[in-house]
Amino acid sequence: MTAPEASVRRAGSYDAANTTWGGLDGELARLETQAALSFDEELRIMRDLGLAGAGPLLELGAGSGAVTRRLRAAEPDLPIVAADIDEKVLAHAAGAGAPLLLGDAARLPLRTGSVGGVLLRYVLQHVADPAPVVAEALRVLRPGGLLVVVEVDSMLWGLADPMYPELASVHGTMAAAQRGAGGDRQIGRKLTRLLRGAGFGDVVLRPFATTNDDHPTEAFAPHLGPERLVPLVASGALSMAQLALATDRWNRFRADPDAWVMLLGFVVAGTAPGGPAGSPWRNR
Ligand SMILES: C[S@@+](CC[C@H](N)C(=O)[O-])C[C@H]1O[C@@H](n2cnc3c(N)ncnc32)[C@H](O)[C@@H]1O
Repeated sequence: MTAPEASVRRAGSYDAANTTWGGLDGELARLETQAALSFDEELRIMRDLGLAGAGPLLELGAGSGAVTRRLRAAEPDLPIVAADIDEKVLAHAAGAGAPLLLGDAARLPLRTGSVGGVLLRYVLQHVADPAPVVAEALRVLRPGGLLVVVEVDSMLWGLADPMYPELASVHGTMAAAQRGAGGDRQIGRKLTRLLRGAGFGDVVLRPFATTNDDHPTEAFAPHLGPERLVPLVASGALSMAQLALATDRWNRFRADPDAWVMLLGFVVAGTAPGGPAGSPWRNR
């Protein structure tokens, strides 16, 4: 692992040991389940956008390598570097088949124009200011290189049937807590402007949906279940009564054989200027 600075910290609203119930182990399991849920959909879109030709791919905020591992298996010829600011989390990516790089996505120890692709998956929602991160991605990309951002937007999180409107305040509290810690769960709607503003061309947004038609309802536990609320109770942001309400509704939902859920995510991509004319996806 390359360590450009003596001590590298976490940044923004992400704190792996305090994200979900069970501390760091709980979060490692959550990242794994989260990747398993939608990776196939994301991969289909990334391939369509030219992933195979975007090497070496720098995965910024790679975390525990849940996606690194899947990308290596799906695209064995694509060289990948897994980078993260959090040494403890990144250590778990050691077996992912990619060199590890410890550092801040806004100040990378890499030469200008040295990579063919950059992936930022569920990272920009955690940084206080995403613009310097996107600008740094542009700097390290070679002309024509591909930036892919995978994100959500809390107001377009998806649909469920039955829906529980009484949980609105719980979800509002969660978004407010992330905002208060320097993150932004409404990043989805800002991404195309962010990439264009940084100087990327051919910017596109591709939504993807994940439903329990294709996955067991239980696989949605990291998104719909109460585990992620536990640290908010510990910090005093959420009451025990709100946690009990959320737990009850999740238990009702998972026990209902007719319950349906669809989560929405967004892949936003752009190319660094100066490459060959015509993006791979412009005419698709
Ligand atoms: C929610 S996790 C996502 C991990 C991985 N991308 C995935 O999808 O499984 C967010 C990751 O972004 C990292 N991160 C946050 N701010 C960062 C920064 N400024 N530079 C590098 N990594 C950062 C965190 O340490 C964390 O590992």
